[in-house]
This record gives sequence, C-alpha cells and structure tokens, in this order.
Amino acid sequence: MNLEKLAAQVAQEFSQNYKRPPRWLVAAPGRVNVIGEHTDYNNGYVLPMAIEYYAVMAADRPTGDGAVVGIRSTAQTEPAHIDTAAPITPGPPRWSNYPRGVAAGFIARGLNPGGLEVWLHSTVPLGGGLSSSAALEVCTATLIEAVTGGKIEPVEKALLCQKAEHEFAGVPCGIMDQFVSVMGREGHLLLLDCRSRQTELVPMRDPSVELLMANTNVHHELGSGQYARRRAQCEAAAKILGVPSLREASAAALEQAKSRMDGEVFRRARHVIGEIERTVQAAGAIRASNWELVGRLMYASHSSLRDDYQVSCAELDALVEIAQSIGLSGGIYGCRMTGGGFGGCAVALVKSDSVAAITKTLAADYKKKTGREATIFGSRPAAGATVLKP
Ligand code: GLA
Repeated sequence: MNLEKLAAQVAQEFSQNYKRPPRWLVAAPGRVNVIGEHTDYNNGYVLPMAIEYYAVMAADRPTGDGAVVGIRSTAQTEPAHIDTAAPITPGPPRWSNYPRGVAAGFIARGLNPGGLEVWLHSTVPLGGGLSSSAALEVCTATLIEAVTGGKIEPVEKALLCQKAEHEFAGVPCGIMDQFVSVMGREGHLLLLDCRSRQTELVPMRDPSVELLMANTNVHHELGSGQYARRRAQCEAAAKILGVPSLREASAAALEQAKSRMDGEVFRRARHVIGEIERTVQAAGAIRASNWELVGRLMYASHSSLRDDYQVSCAELDALVEIAQSIGLSGGIYGCRMTGGGFGGCAVALVKSDSVAAITKTLAADYKKKTGREATIFGSRPAAGATVLKP
C-alpha cells in the first residue's frame, strides 16, 4: 500500500476511535539492509535503504485536560499511557518503551509534547529484522517535532532514537536503523560511515533489478543477549589488536594476532573486517550497475554471518540455499540474511522480470524444506520520515 493510501486509512481509523479527525499525521519507514551487517557498532559502513512499509501515527490534543500521551494501535492490544508531567521511566506494556524513551529524550531537550491522543498503525512486520522498532521510535520523534514545532537536526534525531532503544528497550543497537528511517531518500540506498556519521546517497534506479524480501516468519528477538554478546566480543577483539574499533583493524593484523585470541572472538572480528570491505565494494558495484558483483558480495556476506558471526538460523540458510539453486539463470544475483539475525528476513537482488517466478519457487521450496510459510514482498527505496499533516 502506498503511503498516501495508508495515511488516509490511519486518519480514518483515528476518526473512528476518537470521533474527530486527527490534527497531526506522521510516518517513518522500516528498512532493509542490503549489506554491512553487524558493522555499525564497529564504526564501519552500512548500506541500507528505507522501505515502503511504515509506522504511521495520527494524533490530536485530548478533549479534556491532561499531560498524558495515550497511544492505541491496531497491533497492540494494550494501550500505552505516558505521563509527560512526571519523569518518564521504562514500564509496561513492553512496546511502549520505544515511544517512552523518545518522549523522555525530547523532554530532556526542553521539548515537551504535553497531552496527546494517538492512533498507531504499523505495516513494518514485527520481529522481521526490518526495524519495526526504529520506525516506531522515529515516528514518535517526528510526531513530537510536529506537535512542539521544535525540529531537531537529522543526526541528533537519529541518535536520540538510538538512545531510547539503549536505555528503554535494553538493546545496545548501532546507529543504522534510526539513521536510515530518518534520512532515507526515494530511489537511493544510504551509504553510512558509522565512524564519521557521514552519509552518501547511492542511486538505485535501474528498472531491470529489484530487491526482494523474504520473511522466514521466525520471530527474531534482539533483546535475548546474543546481540550484546557479539558486541562485547568485537570490543574484546579491538582491544587485543590495540585499535579503537574494528574499523581500524586489517585482515593481516587480525591474522597475526590469531594466537593471542579466543577462536570465537577471532571469527567475529574476521566477519566484521571482511564485511566492512564488502560494503564499500558493494556501494561501488551498485554505482557501476555491476549487479553480478553485488550479488556475489551478498552471498559472501551471508556465509560470513552464518559461519563466523553465527547469527543466522536454519530457516534463513534455507532461503539463501534456495536462492542459490535458482541462481542467475533463474534471475537471482545474490541473497543474504538482513538485520540482526536469528530469524527475520532474507534480502535478494533479483531481475525485475523474474520476480513472479522467483516468488513462486522460493515460497514453495521454503515450505518444502522447513514446513513454514515465507512472506515475500518487494520494495523500492523509500523516503525517510515525513509529516503528512498539517
Ligand atoms: C540491528 C541493530 C542495528 C545493526 C543490525 C545488524 O538491526 O539495531 O544497529 O547492528 O542489527 O547489522
């Protein structure tokens, strides 16, 4: 569903629930990462794009007095109540911690939204590795900007949302998801240097290729501690190598330090160092429309995430194996898991004229291999967060 249509639907849902039209309407997209996985918190490069799946919020002031932001939504049965007149702390329901953390960040900057009645509708699949949580954070931030009239710089806005995720949701995530949800641009991938925080838009408009997402429908859960564990292992490797982060490390230096490192820590670092290199190469290959090279880099990224970083799962591996067996003759250049891992989505670079056939084979073979249904969908690179009303 395109954003205009979705926004109109959400406005209508607000009206049905609150018996008046919304005063504000804002949206923030999810993302798919084309390559550069688990590199952001190592100061490396990432290459994501915003997708045409969004968290949308419709809002108005409450009819009575009060400083409570009340959020009801299509997906969550339990509404969120955030009292903006008192210090905001993490609390139930669990999903409310994303908007809670963002509201707290704005209030700390002197931008208090006051009381609101909000209707939330998100089309970003939850736990699908497509940043449903970043979309919710950035959507909340965009709403508070609209309500208070206090626009903050895009980088600051993304960092505020990342902080919300760290402090309220307990996930020590990097900066990729929030950056691309804020700064995505239609028709472009976002090459983000996570050390300097500089961004570069990489056009991706060749009509002969598309990105296809395939959701394993295995729910991924980043709060489980595996993410934090990987992050700590990377920091341990950097320490042994005597560099501030793995961005400053080379494959040769890592090889030399092998005997001084735990085997698992060595393999984690080997993934990160290789993946940073692959991401820079992929950006160049996309600029040159060298789709075969992009595809090879995607497959290499997957193998490294599966074997060295160990964040894949049987279902993601199954999707990539099926993609490989369909191959270039069937229209697939490359495929890899995307996002944090342990479930969620794979992303494939495919020939546009093969999408229908690929979707059919991928779905059927995935069912045969795993007994599960895959959800397969495409997206063009979308724009970042927007205010749709007023
Ligand atoms: C999650 C995090 C990101 C990034 C990816 C892995 O999506 O939120 O910051 O680390 O995992 O690349």
